[in-house]
Amino acid sequence: MKGVILAGGLGSRLHPLTKVTNKHLLPVFDRPMIYYPIEALVRAGVEDVLVVTGGNSAGDFLKLLGNGRDFGLPTMNYTYQEGEGGIADALRLAKHFARGDDICVILGDNIFERSIRHAVAAYQDQGGGARILLKKVPDPERFGVPILDGDKVVRIEEKPESPQSDFAVVGIYMYDNRVFEIIETLEPSQRGELEITDVNNWYIDQGAMSWSEMEGWWTDAGTFESLLRANQLVASTGANNP
Ligand code: G1P
Repeated sequence: MKGVILAGGLGSRLHPLTKVTNKHLLPVFDRPMIYYPIEALVRAGVEDVLVVTGGNSAGDFLKLLGNGRDFGLPTMNYTYQEGEGGIADALRLAKHFARGDDICVILGDNIFERSIRHAVAAYQDQGGGARILLKKVPDPERFGVPILDGDKVVRIEEKPESPQSDFAVVGIYMYDNRVFEIIETLEPSQRGELEITDVNNWYIDQGAMSWSEMEGWWTDAGTFESLLRANQLVASTGANNP
């Protein structure tokens, strides 16, 4: 299993904080935001990590993360997303890094209270396909939202006006190597991006998607409110706890 952290984009919802720097370099309590997803992968036993960056201050990632030694990694891998093509467009750049292996993708602004070790192990046991994590939230319309039939996810809607459940799809996804073929078939959404939700719906249609509920708190940090919340949550409990 290889790890991919998506840390591109212009972070426009955080202007002017992101006018001169990249969202994922902003502080969350005592560390830069990008430290949390890297640590999540390392604590789950993932040793091959790729950072996909883009937008402002891309060179600062190299200065900050170097060769990965501070995280106990043998090296750190980087690539650069041109433009604002969306999450699935950024993921496309990981194809050569993955080289046929399964991947665990984490959005660079997602932070978790608890270790993702069990979810990674569950994916490795399921033998291919995809796996997502769901979390009950008060504001599902901000996220990808699953439609459930019993305990089966039958579809995911991206930022629906009328959410069909009170779950959000958390920004961590596990895929087999078919993900790169699927991305090539996607069309841009209304917001002009290749959506990760379309990738997930493909796996659902194939009957190859499984899920589990995320334990502990989860937050993104891409808006002023969620960035503040991320700071408060990390300060109170820490992140990626066993
Ligand atoms: C993205 C995904 C969404 C997911 C969310 C998790 O939203 O498109 O499905 O629930 O991340 O943070 P975005 O941050 O691009 O608005």
